[in-house]
Amino acid sequence: MKSLVSISDCSKEYILRILDLAEKFEQNPNNKLLDGKLVATLFFEPSTRTRLSFETAVNRLGGRVIGFSDAATSSSSKGETLKDTIKMVSNYVDLIIMRHPVEGAARLASEVASVPVINAGDGANQHPTQTMLDLYSIKKTQGKLEDLTLSMVGDLKYGRTVHSLLMAMRFFNPKFNFVAPKELRMPEQYIDYCRKHKISFREIEDMNDILKETDILYMTRVQQERFTDLVEYEKVKNTYTLHNAMLDGSKDNLKILHPLPRVNEISEDVDDNPKAYYFEQARNGVYARQAVICDILGLI
Ligand code: CP
Repeated sequence: MKSLVSISDCSKEYILRILDLAEKFEQNPNNKLLDGKLVATLFFEPSTRTRLSFETAVNRLGGRVIGFSDAATSSSSKGETLKDTIKMVSNYVDLIIMRHPVEGAARLASEVASVPVINAGDGANQHPTQTMLDLYSIKKTQGKLEDLTLSMVGDLKYGRTVHSLLMAMRFFNPKFNFVAPKELRMPEQYIDYCRKHKISFREIEDMNDILKETDILYMTRVQQERFTDLVEYEKVKNTYTLHNAMLDGSKDNLKILHPLPRVNEISEDVDDNPKAYYFEQARNGVYARQAVICDILGLI
């Protein structure tokens, strides 16, 4: 039995296999591969895209879904431990998909579950299926994953999507620009990870300095829910806003990604620019998640 907890557990071969499968699911997203399978989506934290794209993925493959989108409606609100919840749900389903605010919760769940667990985001730690859809989006728009310049902008401290993507890109010789205010700079453990894996990176505070050289501009939201001090949040929340005019002179192949939701970091005047790719990126989530689910259940 295998689970998908962290992108750091994934080999290059596994990642490329999932991307190939995602392409096949994009060509044919409706079939009966999950006929007779029951999947639980346990969301202890809010979500729009991740939960709904997972549920779309399962439904389009003929499976069924149970679960909750608000932990307040589950017995965790009465004090039931995560361990007990996972052991219970394991009795009912073939696969558990879980989002939880605590870093490491998905690892714990995978250790106590009797069915596979997919991490749909654990605190500021990891979001491996977001990374699969990000890689799929990069490959689809750039025609390759190798030798690209990726600029990650915004909340690099708490952003689990940038942490996961950074780790996955180690196989593809990227050049990173980490663009963040000093309060939200990439944590030291990921800087060390870059050094250890000989990943090229620069840390910068001005977004304008990197726009002309970038292939993938990965914008992120400053996540209010991760701050313990709201005064700190107010100080940094509007540090970066991308406006359409700022894209003049950018590379023809530039694509703008964002895991979404956005707040102020991408102005709506960017949405009609052909370089904006964040809504298509979210749609790619269905295919990438179909690939991960079917692979984990041994159905391919
Ligand atoms: N990208 C992402 O995780 O979005 P949601 O929080 O809406 O699931």
